[in-house]
Amino acid sequence: MTENIFESELKEQRIFRNLEVLSPHYVPPELPHREKEIKEVTRLIAPILRNQKPGNVFIYGKTGTGKTCVVRYVTKKLMEFAENPEKNTLNTVVRVSYMNCKVKNSKYQVLLRLAEDEALNSGLKDAPLKDRPEKELKGMDPNDLYERIFKVVKANGMNLIIVLDEIDMINKGKDLNDLMYQLIRMNDELPSGRVSIIGMSNDARLKRRLDPRSLSTLCEEERVFSPYNAIQIKAILKQRISAGFQDDVVDAATISKIAAYAAQDGDARYALRLLRKAGDIAEASTADKVLPEHVENAKKAAEDDIMGELIKNLPEHQQIVMYSIAALALQGGMQKRLSGLSEGDLFTGEVFEEYEKNCKNLARNPRTIRQFSQYLSELEMSGFITTAMSGKGIRGNTRLIRLGYDPDEIKNTIKTCLGIEEQ
Ligand SMILES: Nc1ncnc2c1ncn2[C@@H]1O[C@H](COP(=O)(O)OP(=O)(O)OP(=O)(O)O)[C@@H](O)[C@H]1O
Ligand SMILES: [Mg+2]
Repeated sequence: MTENIFESELKEQRIFRNLEVLSPHYVPPELPHREKEIKEVTRLIAPILRNQKPGNVFIYGKTGTGKTCVVRYVTKKLMEFAENPEKNTLNTVVRVSYMNCKVKNSKYQVLLRLAEDEALNSGLKDAPLKDRPEKELKGMDPNDLYERIFKVVKANGMNLIIVLDEIDMINKGKDLNDLMYQLIRMNDELPSGRVSIIGMSNDARLKRRLDPRSLSTLCEEERVFSPYNAIQIKAILKQRISAGFQDDVVDAATISKIAAYAAQDGDARYALRLLRKAGDIAEASTADKVLPEHVENAKKAAEDDIMGELIKNLPEHQQIVMYSIAALALQGGMQKRLSGLSEGDLFTGEVFEEYEKNCKNLARNPRTIRQFSQYLSELEMSGFITTAMSGKGIRGNTRLIRLGYDPDEIKNTIKTCLGIEEQ
């Protein structure tokens, strides 16, 4: 009998066992090297189960240091406890509303999300959506939204934890401060039940955007998560490998390599991304193990991905500038014609000319040279290019531009962004 194509596909799983545990949203049953942090967050919010107000908590840490997964983990355990009548003997009404402020990036969006959240609507008195069968609160005045949230908290003596992940993404400083103030003010008017906030951020500048009152409110309790070192990242990797990969397909040298790269920023997310990508590359090849060379390729692919994402988000004129630089770099630029210039360096003047030409081709109005110089500075700050003064002798003293990435890739990425057909 011939083999069914799915049969052979399933047999083909040489490398992976369970891809779900490698997804960025998966929260593992244990979080190695965050035991202390878990304990602390647990201790800070535990008073809720005694009907007492927990402190507001602000967690700061660089990207990939486990802020989101620790808070997700602890609030999940909190709900498991609260929903178990044998454990929650005081019958405390506990709710957690989680949101990511990258998506909910204004005071209004946060209030709307709160009012619409299952956590505030399922089986509760005066639920915000109760008399709104169409499940629509959009377009409502923010004060009315606030009142609805207040009513449900009050009517149920609810202990509500509002988790504002990536809180720095709330656009306006005024929104951020108003929101802190409003949410916490609720407590003054509540006979029973409490509202508290857990905010997380990887942006150290957040605190400067808060006025003194909001700052002291949010940072009542503050915790800093430090970057992971290579040993810690190895432990995190090993946990996912044993659940997500076939036995013995990822060996120690591979794990060490990933850990060494990811430990440069202490970023567990990057480590897991490299692991997953290396696995994909191994699976697509004929290898029956994930080898260090697959990690190298994965690293390169991850860098291209990031670069691509960043470029897609650039304003259009900066994309055109980048396109012009890449195009000239591919032609060799002036250095072909001039000696004394190192390979890959371009003159500001020639890039500006190329930019003007490309604007014309794209039917866009070229910006002034002053704005163009500003674009160059911004592109340099983002790490796409480096610039250096030429020094006297080469065309006076001019700014030389050098591309930090492969010009072919840059050109191709931007071509798609701008819809350029090959000329
Ligand atoms: N101690 C740990 N054990 C297991 N997995 C971890 C641990 N710390 C982080 N991770 C994993 O690493 C990834 C990144 O973690 P997380 O999203 O919590 O970082 P973060 O601090 O919130 O980063 P960001 O500031 O970018 O939001 C997630 O997939 C998470 O599951
Ligand atoms: Mg996070």
